[in-house]
Amino acid sequence: MCGIIGYCGKDDAGTTILRGLKALEYRGYDSSGIALANPNGSLSITRSVGKISALIEKTKLNLIASSSGIGHTRWATHGAVNEANTHPHTDQLGKVAVVHNGIIENFETLKKNFSPEIFSSETDTEVIAHMIALEMDSGQNLLQAVQNTLHKATGSFSIVVVSELNPHKIVAARKGNASGLVVGFAKDAICVVSDITALTDIIEHITFLDANEYVEFSSKEAIFYSDTGEEIDKKELQLPFEHSVQNLGQFKHYMLKEINEQPEAILDTIRGRYQSDTGSIYLQELQISSEQICDINRVVFVGMGTSSNATLVGRHYMERFAKIPSEVDNASEFRYRQPILDKNTLVISVAQSGETVDTLAAMDEAKRAGCMQITICNNPGTQTTRIADSSIYMRCGQEISVASTKTMTASMVLMHALALYLGKIRGTLSSETEQQQINAALHLPVALGQALELSNQIEEIASRYHTFDDFLFLGRGLGFPIAIEGALKLKEISYINAIGYAAGEMKHGPIALIDSQMPTIAIAPRDTVFEKMVSNIQQIRARQGKVIALVSHGEKSLNNLADEIIELPEVDPLLSPIVTVVPLQLLAYHIAQKRGLDIDQPRNLAKTVTVE
Ligand code: AGP
Repeated sequence: MCGIIGYCGKDDAGTTILRGLKALEYRGYDSSGIALANPNGSLSITRSVGKISALIEKTKLNLIASSSGIGHTRWATHGAVNEANTHPHTDQLGKVAVVHNGIIENFETLKKNFSPEIFSSETDTEVIAHMIALEMDSGQNLLQAVQNTLHKATGSFSIVVVSELNPHKIVAARKGNASGLVVGFAKDAICVVSDITALTDIIEHITFLDANEYVEFSSKEAIFYSDTGEEIDKKELQLPFEHSVQNLGQFKHYMLKEINEQPEAILDTIRGRYQSDTGSIYLQELQISSEQICDINRVVFVGMGTSSNATLVGRHYMERFAKIPSEVDNASEFRYRQPILDKNTLVISVAQSGETVDTLAAMDEAKRAGCMQITICNNPGTQTTRIADSSIYMRCGQEISVASTKTMTASMVLMHALALYLGKIRGTLSSETEQQQINAALHLPVALGQALELSNQIEEIASRYHTFDDFLFLGRGLGFPIAIEGALKLKEISYINAIGYAAGEMKHGPIALIDSQMPTIAIAPRDTVFEKMVSNIQQIRARQGKVIALVSHGEKSLNNLADEIIELPEVDPLLSPIVTVVPLQLLAYHIAQKRGLDIDQPRNLAKTVTVE
């Protein structure tokens, strides 16, 4: 979480940093702050609680002319959301300012070296500013002071530091594996940002700071150092994508925009990968040989949140088409239970951001065990793509809303493609099935477009249901992951208590919750488990529960049973989760909208989770 930035250049540093913070806002928006170096050396600091817009408003009148500075947008970990805990943090005299992302695990111990009254915040960060200032008082330059300080600190984090002693230089450091930092080279400027999505309008080349590396930079030059202080060479890379402008267009929220982008996004995802004329799947980005593919004895999917829900669909595809025993693991649990892995285990990670700390940790674990690794990601050049042997990109365009929508549909499509691809090489997939699935997938953009046409009906349903405080989502088979996802979407943007269950579990507990105040969303397309879903619905109705049923196109048999019927577009049953999720995204959106909530930036959340 937390977006951090440092900038030295010819442009007005304040405006550039504020622009960068706006692009990093999805990492946290509890509060934000900026420290600018005055040409005479002193540091000018502004902090504000709330979103970047509040900081922009506050700095309007007093943004000093400066060519270097640092900035931060906070997702609170230590200490309440208030101005005192907002970064940048400084030493007592304000000589050194620090912004930080990650967690300093031994900060309580480090604080004991100072008298308690010097601390003005409850953060784990502030002590770092005092330590750096103390080092500098004893004659160290900024770089040495940062290095000596970080040698005493434990945890996995990144910092960016500016000091009034040398206001034209900034030092940034990355301790441990989490909390990545990108150094960006622009014309007449150098900057450091939490990830590549900030300042893409000016950055021409980039390089990544690896674990325990430091960079000291001015507007002209960046020098990299190892943990032991030796200078190191870093390769400059092209920015892996074109700068894209973020705007809402005709939409009120990014979430609605991104939901509506799905037909086109999926067209980009499948373009060139599913080819009907040759009846083949093309995944040129895979760096795994046919022999290795035939040797795979197990697939382990890892991810978090929505990406993890998507992997439950991926597991179905992998077992069905490639006939490889597959399991799904929540990435945050995977690393702690000493999973049994070997070189014939294929680990498939899904992370739209490419920066999720738990997914990175799971991938590190898989790397140690020598597994083959494929990652499915939306953001080129991010950390997951640097760990995996192969990266398959979603090609969805940036997703800005905290609630993931288009990237979930894209990741399910890519797991479908991957399973077909592996199945063909392993000889477990007939060419008829492959051709049929390719044709079905090529129809997805149309089906997604038809799903969007349900928006008005769903908005009406939302107007009848937005005051309920508890919802149950039920699904079976391929409907189960979508039930969990529907519940997650509703929770995160509506703050409604929503739980997703495998419908078969209903009688093992959740049915006790059913009454007229707890509506159920039943995912009931006509598939092999349809009749069983019908019995679930009957049992709910028998207990006065309201039912909103998602059924196949033309299905009329539930008309007298469910309170609301949403007819899904026609789609191949195996691809139905990719389309069924859309009405649930819309339902969450319209309910949140009717509740008057901040849809794109829901409370307590950040789009990219970079701390455990
Ligand atoms: C999705 O709506 C959530 N905001 C969240 O669960 C998200 O999917 C999760 O944090 C994983 O993110 P990633 O795909 O970037 O790894």
